[in-house]
Amino acid sequence: MNQLYDFDRVIPRRNTHSVKWDLMAKVSREPDLIPLWVADMDFPAPPEVVEAVTRRAELGIYGYAVNPDSYFEAVGGWMKRRHGWEIRQEWLVHAPGVIPAISMLVMALTAPGDRVVIQPPVYPPFFDVIRKNGREVVENPLVLRHGRYEMDFEDLERQLEAGAKMLILCSPHNPVGRVWTREELLRLSQLCLAHKVILVSDEIHSDLVYDGYRHIPAASLSEEIAMNTITCISVGKTFNLAGLQTANVIIPNAEWRRAYTHTLHALHLFIQNYFAGAAVVAAYTHGEAWLSQLMSYIRGNLDYLTDYLAKHMPTIKPVKPEGTYLVWLDCRELGMTAPEIKEWMYRKAKVALNEGSTFGKEGEGFLRINLACPRATLAEGLVRMERALKER
Ligand SMILES: Cc1ncc(COP(=O)(O)O)c(C=O)c1O
Repeated sequence: MNQLYDFDRVIPRRNTHSVKWDLMAKVSREPDLIPLWVADMDFPAPPEVVEAVTRRAELGIYGYAVNPDSYFEAVGGWMKRRHGWEIRQEWLVHAPGVIPAISMLVMALTAPGDRVVIQPPVYPPFFDVIRKNGREVVENPLVLRHGRYEMDFEDLERQLEAGAKMLILCSPHNPVGRVWTREELLRLSQLCLAHKVILVSDEIHSDLVYDGYRHIPAASLSEEIAMNTITCISVGKTFNLAGLQTANVIIPNAEWRRAYTHTLHALHLFIQNYFAGAAVVAAYTHGEAWLSQLMSYIRGNLDYLTDYLAKHMPTIKPVKPEGTYLVWLDCRELGMTAPEIKEWMYRKAKVALNEGSTFGKEGEGFLRINLACPRATLAEGLVRMERALKER
C-alpha cells in the first residue's frame, strides 16, 4: 500500500493548550520535556475528519448540536466491518467520554458500598470511578508469566464468590497491551454471568491492534453474554479525537439502558459536542486507510523501541504489546526507587513517561511509554533516557 500520510512530520504542539505537552511542562517546570505519556497522539486526525471539523468551525455559530442522520450508520457499519458485531440502533447511547460513561454506569447500576472488580495494573481512572462514587475496589491483579500478562481466573472466581456487582474490563488492556483471546473473554464473561456480575467492557483501544491479533467485542460472544455486557467505544484513541469528548455506550439490556439514560439525563450530559457528530461520521466512514497506515507506523516505532532498548538499555524490558500504542516497560532491573526513577526521567533525561505505580501497586518498577509520535521524537526521547542513565 502506498504511504499516503506523513506520520514522520513533527508538528510543534507546545503552546497549543495540550495536556500532553503544555500541562506536563507546567507541572514539572521542565519546559523542554519530551512528553511520551498521556494517551494522545502527535499526529493529525485523518484529513476527512479535519475537513469535517473545519466545515463545522466555519459556520461560526456554535449552538447546541444533534447527531447527523448518518451517525448510527457510521458507528454500526464500523462495528460490523471491523469487529464483526452487528449492533441495533436502540442499543447505542451517548456519553461525553468513556470514563464519564463508566462513572455513570457505576452510579446507575451499583449502590454505595458495592464491590466492583478491576484488573490492575490498569488505567488509573478505573480506581477513581469506583472510589469517588463511594463503591469498593476489588482487585483481581493480572499475572506476568514469561513476559506476557494473563488473567488469574482462580482469584477472580474467589472474588466473585465473595460478592461483587460489576467488573470493569479493559479490552484491549491499557497498560499491558493484551488483546484478550476468545477463550479468555468467554471464561471471564461466563464467570460474570454465573455470579450475576455486570460486565462493563471498556473497548476504547479496540481499533489499535497489531497484525496477527484480533479484537473480539465481549458482547459479541453470545446473546446471553450481550445481555450481561455493556460496551464502551470511542473515536478518541483511534483517530486522536480525545479533546472532542464523545463516546458511545452499547447497552443491549433494556433495563440497564434505561438506568444509564436516567443518570445521563440527571446530570444533563446527553448533548453531543458541536464538532463530534460530524467528526465521528467522517472517521468511521473514511478513516480506515489512515488507521491501517497508522498501525504500520506504530509497529515501526515498536520495533525501533525494542531494538534500541536491547542495544542501549538492556535492563529495561518492554512487555510485547498485542494492541494499543502504549508499551509497558519493566524497569525493575534498574534497581531504582520510585523517587530515583522520577529524578532520572523528569530532571535528568527530561522526558515524561507514565509512572507504573499510578496503575496500581503491581505497576511499581514499571513505566508506560506512548509510541504515537513521529519516530524522531521517540528517538530523541530514548537518547535522552540513555544518556541520563549513563550519567548516574
Ligand atoms: C482504557 C481507557 N479508557 C478510557 C480512556 C479515556 O477515555 P475518555 O477520554 O473517552 O474518557 C482511556 C484513555 O487513555 C483509556 O486508556
